[in-house]
Amino acid sequence: MKEQLAKIKEEALASFSSAADAARLNDLRVKYLGKKGELTAVLKQMGKLSAEERPVMGQLANDVRAALETALEDCSKKLEAAALERRLKEETLDVTIPGKAVSIGRQHPMNIALDELKTIFIGMGFTVLEGPEVELASYNFDRLNAEEGHPSRDWSDTFYFDEDSRVMLRSQTSPMQIRAMETMELPIRIIAPGRVYRKDEVDATHSPMFHQVEGMVIDKGVTMADLKGTLNTVVEDLYGAGTRTRFRPHHFPFTEPSCEMDVQCHKCGGAGCPTCKGEGWIELLGAGMIHPRVLEMSGIDPEVYTGWAFGIGLERMALRRFKIADMRLIFENDMRFLEQF
Ligand code: DAH
Repeated sequence: MKEQLAKIKEEALASFSSAADAARLNDLRVKYLGKKGELTAVLKQMGKLSAEERPVMGQLANDVRAALETALEDCSKKLEAAALERRLKEETLDVTIPGKAVSIGRQHPMNIALDELKTIFIGMGFTVLEGPEVELASYNFDRLNAEEGHPSRDWSDTFYFDEDSRVMLRSQTSPMQIRAMETMELPIRIIAPGRVYRKDEVDATHSPMFHQVEGMVIDKGVTMADLKGTLNTVVEDLYGAGTRTRFRPHHFPFTEPSCEMDVQCHKCGGAGCPTCKGEGWIELLGAGMIHPRVLEMSGIDPEVYTGWAFGIGLERMALRRFKIADMRLIFENDMRFLEQF
């Protein structure tokens, strides 16, 4: 039995010090000191010993157990220290390595142009509305007085979702006029920016998706003079004091009378140049007094309330504002272009 104990001690101590990690060390603890371990197995044979031998062997067995426990403790500490050492090495930070440059984005020219417009209109008490791009044809056309058979309803111009031409990608932001009339208390002063869609081929001045900003005012006693005064103020804010405008008669189904507003060419000041194609003026927006039928269809009495509205093409504004020659640049997301703003 004495030899057995000596052998266990020798083997155990050797295996402890060669254990590679804490898990392995724990396995060895179980192997030698566990309930079914080798040392326990030896102790179970104590009953066979004589009364004189028993305390001697008992003492010896206890010494072996103590020696193993001490060795385990030591080895475990060594392994812990080694593990810590390893982690410290692995996680070393070299604070002298140069950092990665953070590239800060910037506003898209379209957003810059839109923000400028919003700021001006919010300053005049307008609310900014947003609405659906997938729109009912009844809002996009019927309730704007463009009834069945109106050329803009043609399948060759408009993206419809169904055979019955009831659901479509809005072709203008004007349906937001109807949505505002439906949901807001009078008087109303809104602008409604957003995407619109038409079946146009892509070229330097066209895209099947572009942006408009709709504007609308409805109140008692509102006249064409308010329309002109407000839009003139906006233009002077955008292009500088003294910038002149002109209003040309036009036709839109939802306004009567209707007009288009031109702005004096910023390049030549009105003398005529390539930018304005020799005209001296550049078209900026469509506008007009809201047609009484449009008010009526939305339950507003045209004898009591009047209103005006306008629609601006935002791309055209941004192109002019930043002197961009080709609209495709606006949508291509080429960093070399975008980084210039
Ligand atoms: N919706 C028109 C278009 O897309 C623009 C427009 C013209 C809007 C006159 C208006 C308006 O609100 O009064 O061509």
